Amino acid sequence: MFLSELVALSALFSFVLGSHPKISLRAKSKSEKVARRDVNGAGNVTLANYFNGTDLQWYGAIGVGTPPQNLTVVFDSASTDLLIPSVACSPSNGCPSEGIEGPLHKFNQNSSSTFHTQNKGFYAPFGTGIGVAPSDFESQTGIIATDTVCVSGLCAKNQTMGLVMNETAGFANDPFDGILGLAFPALGVTGNGSFFNSLVQAKAVAEALYGFYLTPNVVGGAELTLGGIDESKIESNITYAKVAPPFWNVTFDDLTVNGVSVNLTYKQALFDTGTSNVVGGDISQLQEIYGIISPKIKLIDKNGAFGMPCSEIQEIVEANVKFTISGKTFMIPTPELFVGEYPSLPGVCQAFWNADVTNSYGGAFIVGASLLKYYYSVWDFGNSRFGLADTDISPPRVSDADQ
Ligand SMILES: *[C@@H]1O[C@H](CO)[C@@H](O)[C@H](O)[C@H]1NC(C)=O
Ligand SMILES: *[C@@H]1O[C@H](CO)[C@@H](O)[C@H](O)[C@H]1NC(C)=O
Ligand SMILES: *[C@@H]1O[C@H](CO)[C@@H](O)[C@H](O)[C@H]1NC(C)=O
Ligand SMILES: *[C@@H]1O[C@H](CO)[C@@H](O)[C@H](O)[C@H]1NC(C)=O
Ligand SMILES: *[C@@H]1O[C@H](CO)[C@@H](O)[C@H](O)[C@H]1NC(C)=O
Ligand SMILES: *[C@@H]1O[C@H](CO)[C@@H](O)[C@H](O)[C@H]1NC(C)=O
Ligand SMILES: *[C@@H]1O[C@H](CO)[C@@H](O)[C@H](O)[C@H]1NC(C)=O
Ligand SMILES: *[C@@H]1O[C@H](CO)[C@@H](O)[C@H](O)[C@H]1NC(C)=O
Ligand SMILES: *[C@@H]1O[C@H](CO)[C@@H](O)[C@H](O)[C@H]1NC(C)=O
Ligand SMILES: *[C@@H]1O[C@H](CO)[C@@H](O)[C@H](O)[C@H]1NC(C)=O
Repeated sequence: MFLSELVALSALFSFVLGSHPKISLRAKSKSEKVARRDVNGAGNVTLANYFNGTDLQWYGAIGVGTPPQNLTVVFDSASTDLLIPSVACSPSNGCPSEGIEGPLHKFNQNSSSTFHTQNKGFYAPFGTGIGVAPSDFESQTGIIATDTVCVSGLCAKNQTMGLVMNETAGFANDPFDGILGLAFPALGVTGNGSFFNSLVQAKAVAEALYGFYLTPNVVGGAELTLGGIDESKIESNITYAKVAPPFWNVTFDDLTVNGVSVNLTYKQALFDTGTSNVVGGDISQLQEIYGIISPKIKLIDKNGAFGMPCSEIQEIVEANVKFTISGKTFMIPTPELFVGEYPSLPGVCQAFWNADVTNSYGGAFIVGASLLKYYYSVWDFGNSRFGLADTDISPPRVSDADQ
């Protein structure tokens, strides 16, 4: 039951579009990192930002088959499957043409000497962020297969994957080809664990963890490190909290909005690199949260979206949301408050946090890039713990409670 929901929440394609209100972020020049191989079992993957008015997804290159065919994927911590388009998926099956909308690629199984089909089908349902596009339900179907998959020089042989043969129209604008799930093995529709789990099983990685350096588009330089932590990105100790697989969810100590503690009985944050915002809580909880920021932020869609007139958002000077985890605070800063104009309501700007009106995630808050792009995140697969550390773009720590 939870499985397809989890796959769904992690897909989150095109969750909010429209122009972003003015953002003032300290953009630091950062030399472009190139993907490189490391014989010691760790690899950096340069991530591109899918930005369309707001940061939507981060994606990077993988090689599939022998010889390797290059494709790009979203690296998604909340799903398990590797799903890539087959050359057999034509525009009439829903897949965009290669190269039309950007540097798109499809996998040709007949050009790979290590390809094996499992002669089994799969069906992968996706939601597009609860409440934002309520009628936008997407899915992919295809066949289950195995082949060699390499990411930044780290390879898994006979990796299980889903070759997409048909998909619904919602994927058409995506600038990447597929999705590579990095969750724990129990989730998934193609079976038997993630690419990262395969690397761990094969002892191909130095450490059974990966690190994400997600960044706002204006900062750039986003990176995934498989099998290690890129210490050059970290400016503090790492704060860890236990997770209970298969989910990357932690029990947090406190949630404050502009310094006001929010009354919660269930304090679970489920971290997800594949979600661009925050989703969770019921409508009354979100009314409490937004009420602290501005009485003008109201429910704009009964399915869980909140917002206010774009012309008035400059009135809001402060909107910080802080999670306290293992005694340390981590902040979603003011520039994240609005994500752009709500597609069906011209002139209305949508706020970053959607209610989960169907209570799909057991009361947990899905915490995505709104927070993750201000910290370095460590996904410690082997020790079942999740860590956060400050980076050069983390909000400054001002009070004792922040230290
Ligand atoms: C960007 O957003 C606009 C709507 O605001 C949409 O029409 C367009 O297709 C999107 N582009 C991409 C590449 O997603
Ligand atoms: C990743 O990049 C950082 C910064 O350039 C570097 O220090 C580190 O060695 C790289 N790691 C790998 C595995 O390439
Ligand atoms: C695939 O990507 C690798 C590394 O970026 C590059 O060396 C190689 O030439 C690419 N292959 C093709 C067929 O584009
Ligand atoms: C692969 O080759 C077989 C046999 O020639 C053909 O039937 C099939 O359509 C090809 N598949 C793809 C995806 O090109
Ligand atoms: C896949 O697309 C083809 C062509 O549109 C269609 O005939 C077929 O029924 C689709 N299959 C599924 C499972 O959606
Ligand atoms: C991959 O799977 C094929 C077919 O199941 C098998 O023949 C081959 O030995 C496997 N290769 C590895 C490296 O496990
Ligand atoms: C899944 O992988 C495990 C090893 O990680 C193996 O023991 C098991 O047989 C595999 N199951 C399937 C259905 O392939
Ligand atoms: C990091 O942890 C060490 C050991 O617990 C501690 O001595 C040090 O003060 C910490 N550094 C920071 C910046 O918090
Ligand atoms: C994660 O969520 C599950 C399911 O709600 C829960 O049983 C578990 O205790 C949570 N993990 C942690 C570390 O709180
Ligand atoms: C928080 O919850 C407690 C217990 O349900 C209640 O007594 C208290 O008034 C609530 N505080 C706020 C600010 O809603």
